[in-house]
Parts: sequence; C-alpha cells; structure tokens
Amino acid sequence: KRHLISAGDLTRDDAVLILDTAEEMARVADRPVKKLPTLRGRTVVNLFFEDSTRTRISFEAAAKRLSADVINFSAKGSSVSKGESLKDTALTLEAMGADAVVIRHHDSGAPHRLATSGWIGGSVVNAGDGTHEHPTQALLDAFTMRRRLTGGEGHDLSGRRVTLVGDILHSRVARSNVRLLSTLGAHVTLVAPPTLVPVGVEAWPCEVSYALDPVLATSDAVMMLRVQRERMKAAYFPTEREYARRYGLDGDRMARMPEHAVVMHPGPMNRGMEITAEVADSPRCTAVEQVTNGVSIRMAVLYLLLGGSEPAVTTVPAART
Ligand code: CP
Repeated sequence: KRHLISAGDLTRDDAVLILDTAEEMARVADRPVKKLPTLRGRTVVNLFFEDSTRTRISFEAAAKRLSADVINFSAKGSSVSKGESLKDTALTLEAMGADAVVIRHHDSGAPHRLATSGWIGGSVVNAGDGTHEHPTQALLDAFTMRRRLTGGEGHDLSGRRVTLVGDILHSRVARSNVRLLSTLGAHVTLVAPPTLVPVGVEAWPCEVSYALDPVLATSDAVMMLRVQRERMKAAYFPTEREYARRYGLDGDRMARMPEHAVVMHPGPMNRGMEITAEVADSPRCTAVEQVTNGVSIRMAVLYLLLGGSEPAVTTVPAART
C-alpha cells in the first residue's frame, strides 16, 4: 500500500504486520541510540491545518528516529492564512521533494483528495481529518490493548470487549477504532447520549448503548472520548454536570470494571467532564502509554510505506523473517 487514509483500508494481516513492526520499533526506543538509518535521505512533511500536540510531535519523533529529514508545516503562520489552496500548498511541498506527507485537516476527505489528486507523488498519511478518521490513533490504541490484554506480538484482539464512551458523533478516533477493532476481531460497544450518536450507526460493526453502567463489568477496555465542544451546537449537549454524572468515568465506575480491564483516552482530556483526575492519574489509565506507543506505531507506518524493503531493517533486533 502507498497511503494510509482509513483504518478500513487495512486487512487483518496488514494491521497485525503494522502492530508487529511497531513492536520491533519499540525495541529501538529501548536502546541507548534511539535511531535507525532506514529513511536516511527521505523527506517527511508534517502538514497540519488543525492543532495537535501528540500526533504532530510523535510523527516528527518517528521520522527522526528513522533518520528522515522532517519539515513541519503549520497552517497558522503560513500562506494558507492568505488564502492559498490545498492544491497550491501541495504543489509547493512536491517541489521540495516530499516523500511522505502526514496531513491533519479540519475537512473530512482532505487526505483522500491529496492522495488521489496527482498533486504529489509521495505517500499520504492521514493524521486526522474532520470527523472522518484518525487511523494511526486506532493503530496505537490497538497496540496498547494488545500489549495489555493479549500475548502481544502476532496476536489480534479476537473476543476482547472494547467500550467507546462519549462524543461518538464528532469522533474520528471512534470511527477508526470501530473499523480497526472489528477487523482485529474485537467486540465493540459505543456508549453515548442519543444526541451524540451519528445517523447511520446501525450499519457500523458494533453495538450501541445509551447507558454506561450496564457495560462496565463486561469491558476489557473502556475508551473515554473527548467531548468536542468546539464542533458542537449547544442543543446537542446536556450540561457538563449532567454529562459527567451519566457518562463520566470516576473512581466508583472504574471499580466496577474487571480487574484486568484498562481505561484509555486518546487525549487531550477534559478532566472533570468525561474522566475524573483520579481515574486519569490511576495506573489503570493508559493515556501516557498510548502516547509512547504512538511513536512506535508511526515509525512502523512510515517504515512500511517508505522503506519496508530496504536492507536497513536488519539493524532492527529480531527483524521479521
Ligand atoms: N490524540 C490526538 O490526536 O491528539 P492531538 O490532537 O494532540 O494530536
């Protein structure tokens, strides 16, 4: 594959290959020199039209650990603010020899447009587009769950029960997770107030519940989603207090989860709304671990898209056979 636009584009074998490659990349992070020469001479452009902390920084760290040259482009402070189009921005990057473009955009479909337009010749990686998809987030979430809930390398998530809670309507993380988790054999339940459930959800490979309490005892992972107030009309939303009371994860609710079950959050978190500080800071919450795993996943994605057949892979301990 040349691009990564949707988690739905990945077969089970594709997904397990990325997760297993990320395990190899994680071993690089444990070495005194956290760097591989695999992408030396290649250029990765981070093209961010929307704010980001974790995704932008971890793609930069991933590309640098693979020895690529990295160009960071933020729409704020660029000629986009003078009205320059996506096409002209892409043509400018192509003229600078981008081998891969990692794009975050407020419009759903912008990465697909970039990948199919012919404006650029390199690989396109979707780093989150509107309310559509965030495939590397779903991959790092699956990587985290696989490490915590299964035997790890070589495994999928067959039979694991994953509950996604909150603002499903606006969540690209939820859409990518539902697609990837079902490909990996997990059973997914979405929990949200009726006003934050998307139209057409009946066609998704998951169940829907309007109540959180009944599903806690049977969940292996409970993923809390950020309430995206910036994308919301007031009518969609109960009061903050009411939301926290019905859908927030606090210590009492966490205690009702099985002992082995984990709490996840993609970040950024609204502490006090979808998750209490007690839960966010507990050892059962994987939010920080997810960030660490994100670097390994993004290294794996860049490596497989740009350099997967290069001999430099032999420098990774326990390389694939
Ligand atoms: N999880 C996530 O995408 O975070 P950022 O918006 O900070 O990249």
